Amino acid sequence: MDYEVILLAAGQGKRMKASRNKILLHLMGKPVISYSLNTFMNDPACKHIILVTQQDEQELLRDLVGKVKKKQHCPVTIVTGGCERQYSVYNGLQVMNNQHNIVMVHDGARPFVTLSQLKMLHKKVRETRTAILGVPVKDTIKRVVNGTVQETIPRETLWQIQTPQVFYGNELLTAHEQANTEGFLGTDESSLIEKYSELPVSMVLGSYENIKLTTPEDMLIGEAMVKRKRS
Ligand code: CTP
Ligand code: MG
Repeated sequence: MDYEVILLAAGQGKRMKASRNKILLHLMGKPVISYSLNTFMNDPACKHIILVTQQDEQELLRDLVGKVKKKQHCPVTIVTGGCERQYSVYNGLQVMNNQHNIVMVHDGARPFVTLSQLKMLHKKVRETRTAILGVPVKDTIKRVVNGTVQETIPRETLWQIQTPQVFYGNELLTAHEQANTEGFLGTDESSLIEKYSELPVSMVLGSYENIKLTTPEDMLIGEAMVKRKRS
């Protein structure tokens, strides 16, 4: 079974402190969003890209989609996002070709996801119905309240979670609907599945390079990674 992807680009990029949405900033001559668009467009298993954007950036993104080099045809639907990431995903779920399909949810602000990671996630979701990408944490993590350390959390069990996060559309939609009813806002899709579904969520080992461009120094790291890949 193939998959559809919800590619998120409808944020404001406030922490990037730039004059425009960070997914449109250039990374070595190409807009950030073009990198992941390119990766999904050239994955033969990807049958539909749902690009979730701000209303007033849709023309611009339509142009960008036209410029991506493609080896195959993958239809792109552009939809308007919501005021929270979770609502943007929900809007994307509404326009799936078939809600029984597998859906990958990916942050447009993560340009470095690779085809081999998509393949691993796709294989895992078909085995267990869930698959999310992440890496074990490297730093020591402590819980701190009002400037005082409360405890050190055993690091062996801690992972940093990334995207793509992959589920079956109908199962993710049910979790979203329950979250909407209760007014629960999660920071990722997995947290909704953990809270509203019986399904255990499977981890797939990603890469420390699959960073989310969040603050200005991330752009420098991102540029260094593109340079290395090109050299
Ligand atoms: N996103 C979205 N809709 C929202 C909020 C975020 O589609 N209402 C997308 C962003 O475009 C980004 C991804 O979700 O690709 C991850 O979110 P984040 O890194 O928080 O991006 P922003 O919300 O844009 O940044 P900030 O929180 O700094 O404003
Ligand atoms: Mg945000």
